[in-house]
Amino acid sequence: MVDLDGKVVLVTGASRGIGAAAALAFAEAGATVGVMARNQDGVRDLAARIGGIALAGDVARAGDMERAVAAMGDRWGRLDVLVNNAGVIGPMADIASADPTVWGQAIDINLKGVFHGMRAVLPMMRAQGGGTVLTVGSGAAHAPREGWSAYCASKAGAWMLTRALDHEARAQGIRAISLSPGTVATDMQAAIRQSGINPISQLDWSVHIPPEWPARALVWLCGPGGDAFLGDEVSLRDETIRRRLGLAA
Ligand SMILES: NC(=O)c1ccc[n+]([C@@H]2O[C@H](COP(=O)([O-])OP(=O)(O)OC[C@H]3O[C@@H](n4cnc5c(N)ncnc54)[C@H](OP(=O)(O)O)[C@@H]3O)[C@@H](O)[C@H]2O)c1
Repeated sequence: MVDLDGKVVLVTGASRGIGAAAALAFAEAGATVGVMARNQDGVRDLAARIGGIALAGDVARAGDMERAVAAMGDRWGRLDVLVNNAGVIGPMADIASADPTVWGQAIDINLKGVFHGMRAVLPMMRAQGGGTVLTVGSGAAHAPREGWSAYCASKAGAWMLTRALDHEARAQGIRAISLSPGTVATDMQAAIRQSGINPISQLDWSVHIPPEWPARALVWLCGPGGDAFLGDEVSLRDETIRRRLGLAA
């Protein structure tokens, strides 16, 4: 396992699912972790458990992301890793019937939220000589799914943001990588199942991987294993990657 002793990590969307599992995995690897979600009650217990701080904020608001990053800097003097994990599935409806407001909120969170995170951490990471920005992507960035236009479009945009960040900032030591986890057994996946829309909702629950798998991958990407994937996307559907991480096939 990668040793992150002395490293400082901020995880967005950490109140449940992949984000909560990631916060635990980073803490187990020795990192100091800030956990952020819209509702501070959702992250308070987790922060206490791992000795980190609970941050209330909405990634869709640039000012909230700036405040969260500043809080990390005030408390620990640095920020080594940002995990852009917060996300919503958005309106599960075809383009003709999707509510424009709800559609726009998904873009605000899944796409603009990632931009807000990158923008907020860059000054601190550049000043300290580098850092890692991990974004939880999705296969939906590369393949349209019926009824998921907001989700697919936002994840496609977020994938391009990882590439853009790598293009702009790799030379300053910024490591930008996207992780596409496959389908994961979380509340989001339960909502997808309940919708009955498109083939993903019909998958047997047993095919979904546990959130601890992407959590482990996120920690691994902070070590030398991630160096081969700068500006790129790592897919947990890839058997080679799973084997390298010691995850069951
Ligand atoms: N589950 C899957 O199969 C799957 C597959 C591919 C990719 N992903 C991606 O993985 C990430 C995590 O998904 P998940 O399945 O763990 O979802 P989840 O169980 O629904 O958890 C989402 C988390 O994001 C937070 N969040 C939502 N909107 C936010 C906002 N505006 N600002 C701050 N926090 C916000 C939620 O907390 P609050 O509501 O309290 O703010 C919660 O902690 C998402 O980016 C998702 O697209 C998931």
